[in-house]
Amino acid sequence: MHLDIITCLPRLIESPFSDSILKRAQAKGIVTVNIIDLRQYATSKHRSTDDYAFGGGAGMVMMIEPIDNCISYLKSQRAYDEIIYTSPDGTTLTQSMANELSLKKNIILLCGHYKGVDERVREHLVTREISIGDYVLSGGELAAAVIADAVIRLIPGVLSDETSALSDSFQDGLVAPPVYTRPAEYKSWKVPEVLLSGHQANIEEWRHDQSIERTKKRRPDLLEKP
Ligand code: ADE
Repeated sequence: MHLDIITCLPRLIESPFSDSILKRAQAKGIVTVNIIDLRQYATSKHRSTDDYAFGGGAGMVMMIEPIDNCISYLKSQRAYDEIIYTSPDGTTLTQSMANELSLKKNIILLCGHYKGVDERVREHLVTREISIGDYVLSGGELAAAVIADAVIRLIPGVLSDETSALSDSFQDGLVAPPVYTRPAEYKSWKVPEVLLSGHQANIEEWRHDQSIERTKKRRPDLLEKP
């Protein structure tokens, strides 16, 4: 996968890609991530990427021209499967959306900022708009990092144990079962006996039952979905 992230605050999004799983995914050559400073595509003297809103009102609006220049340049280099704009009024990110995006080859993530982008960017330049939840962040960078993380970890070969993404919460519409590690007893708090039994079929059955119980208790909405 190749991921281009367009932002007016590149430093804000660099660190999630410089550590742990996202760093390793790049080192293994499974994904290439390119963080692009939108200012490089600004044409005005001060390299502005935002301006006042027509009609007045508080807050600046990201201008179409630098974004169009940037996306046009990127499109001249490769064909994109998706051009995603991060916005609180986009479609809420789900695990199934992450699964779908993990199959794509080339993706642009455009980070929103200030009061948002000129509406013509949304109408003409992006293919989808994604929110990471019903709350407002200071900018789209953290949302882009969340989307990238949720997607990249699903690409085969990124996680060392390939089955571990399959046993994640939500992957089968249920939340994950509880997990324990040593010691088997701590301050008289014991690990469930079945996990120490070595009986794999019983362990799997216990885990599945726990997943269902937890989902009923914590996320009953997941069980109501068709
Ligand atoms: N930008 C600001 N808030 C956001 C959110 N919740 N999701 C995606 N992008 C955002």
